[in-house]
Formats: sequence, structure tokens, C-alpha cells
Amino acid sequence: MVKVHVSLSTKPYDVTIGPGVRHELGAILEATSVGYQSCVVVTSKELRAQSWFDVDHDDDVTVIEVPEGERAKTFGSLASLCEQFAALQLSRRDVIVAVGGGALTDVAGFAAAVYLRGISVIHIPTTLVGQVDAAIGGKTAINLPSGKNLVGAFHQPVAVLCDSEILESLPDRERQSGFGEVAKCWLLEDRRASALASASLDDLILLSVNLKARIVATDEFESGERALLNYGHTLAHALEVLALAHDPDLLRHGEAVGIGLGFAVRLAHALGRVDELVVANHDEVLAFFKLSLEVPKEFSTSDIIAAMGHDKKAHHDLTFVLPGVNGFEVVRGVNHELVVRVLEEYREAR
Ligand code: GLY
Repeated sequence: MVKVHVSLSTKPYDVTIGPGVRHELGAILEATSVGYQSCVVVTSKELRAQSWFDVDHDDDVTVIEVPEGERAKTFGSLASLCEQFAALQLSRRDVIVAVGGGALTDVAGFAAAVYLRGISVIHIPTTLVGQVDAAIGGKTAINLPSGKNLVGAFHQPVAVLCDSEILESLPDRERQSGFGEVAKCWLLEDRRASALASASLDDLILLSVNLKARIVATDEFESGERALLNYGHTLAHALEVLALAHDPDLLRHGEAVGIGLGFAVRLAHALGRVDELVVANHDEVLAFFKLSLEVPKEFSTSDIIAAMGHDKKAHHDLTFVLPGVNGFEVVRGVNHELVVRVLEEYREAR
């Protein structure tokens, strides 16, 4: 078991990583929630049926179910959660335990942020994306039809338990797609593809959690460096918004991030920010994780560009996190025609 400390000045907490760490919940509740009375687990019906799901064995624990995946990130789910918290008479001294993937911890975390203006939440992320990114750092949100995560709040958890045993039961596609976020962290850390062969899954999770904890501790509210965690996400979020309206099962978040990383490095190359070796290293990293670079044919380039312009980081222009001689930077106002050209070439090459 390894603990990574998120050293925020106001509410520091630990991310505990390792097999079976979900069983630390009892000890963490005792240690972190002085005098808590009720513990409410928010999860999905599907996760509750898994053999590892044993966080509800205590008679005092109530379980609330929300739909799986992005379907949970709606005002309807948020209202339903808050109504159920109120019916259980939860007070600010009680604790929500969110057991699920990134979408579930996003909506449960947001409900915890706004119910009674904020009650404690502990995340037990059940997907690779959740363990290396979504559950850490306090970003919580629901979606609007016009964009992902457009309504939300910063609300730090009191603890995060990343149990690698849970990952063993992940469906192949879910496990596979999680590597999109891991690839992002590997590239942000400027690691070579050749070093991947000697890295275990635990090493990759630890590298990603360490990166996230370090960045969140220096820039909790994303006024600077934290935005770099959105590397690959301008295109990824655009594709996800289009997929949500078309077929929510078309793309997993990590798959979209993989496509977005391959595009972002080509855009950086077209802008003269990086050479071909950097592009080749990205391609090798993405290939190692078996991430496809294929932009779904269902979406037109003009719809994708329009969706990229609506990204909440965009400030009404096309904004990307891009590598360059000074490392990674947020680059605003990227020329529209250039983005179209690079995107079309990227699509045609596949
Ligand atoms: N997922 C990016 C962040 O937490 O800032």
C-alpha cells in the first residue's frame, strides 16, 4: 500500500493506492470524520453486484444507486441525490462515499459539494481513469447538452482509495481506455516510449497520481499549471460532446483522450513547436497502450471544430495545451484554418 499526499494548505488528504485498500475505509472514516454519524454510499446497480463490492456490509451504511456512466451526470441525478440525502437527514457531520468511475465520482462529488453547501466525500474510484485522474483533485461536475462538465464545483475529497483489486474486474474496453489518461501523464512527464516496457501497472498509476497530486497542490483552482492536465482534452471533449448526442457508447473518455493527444502533438508540430521525434514518441506511447488515433467518422470536421470552440477552457477561441521548447503551455487563439487543416490530415492518415 502506498500513500500519495495531496498537500493542499486548506484540506490536505491522502490517495491510498494498492490491492484491497477499499478495506481501509473504516479506519479512514474514524480518522477523518470526527463524530460522523451516517455514511451513505453512492454507487451504481451494476457495481453493487460485483463480487468485490463489500463497502455496504456495515448495517449503518445506506446505499444510493445512480445510473452508470455519463448518464448519471445530469441535473436529474443531482436533484435525486440531494433529495435522498435530505430524506436521510444527512448533516454536515455525515459522509458520502462515492464508489464508481469518473462520471459517478463527478456527480456524487458535486452533490456533496452543494448539499448543505458542502459535506464530506470519500472517493473509491473503480476505473483506471478514476484512479489516475477523475477522483483526485476536487473537480466535480455534471454535463449540459452543450458541453461536458459545464456545471460543477471544486470540492476536495477527504480521502481517495485506489484499489487495484477492483481494476481486475473491469471490462476489457474500460480497462484499456483508461490508458488514455495514463498516456497523457507519461507524456506530460516527458517520458520516452522505450521506458514503458519496464513499467508495471502499479508504477503507471503511481506516476499518474504523483503528477496529479503535485499539480493540484500548486494550483487547486486551475489558475495556471493545472490546465496542463487538459493535454489532449480540447479535441477529446469535443468528440465526447458529439458522441453524447449521437451514441454515448461510441467513445470512452480515455479513448477520446488518446485521439486528442495524437492530434495535439501534430498541431504543435504544424506550429513549429516540436520536431518529428516528439510526434514519433507520442505515436509510440499511444501504440504501446493500444490507443486508436481514429476520429469517429460519424462527426464532420466542421462539427468537431465548432465543439472545440465551445470547450469551457476556450474563452471563445481555439485553445490547446501544447508541447514546445518551454515545455507544455496553454496556447490560445490558434489559427482556425490551421486547426482545420491539421485535423483533416490527421483523419485522412488513418
Ligand atoms: N482532469 C483534469 C483536472 O483535474 O484538472
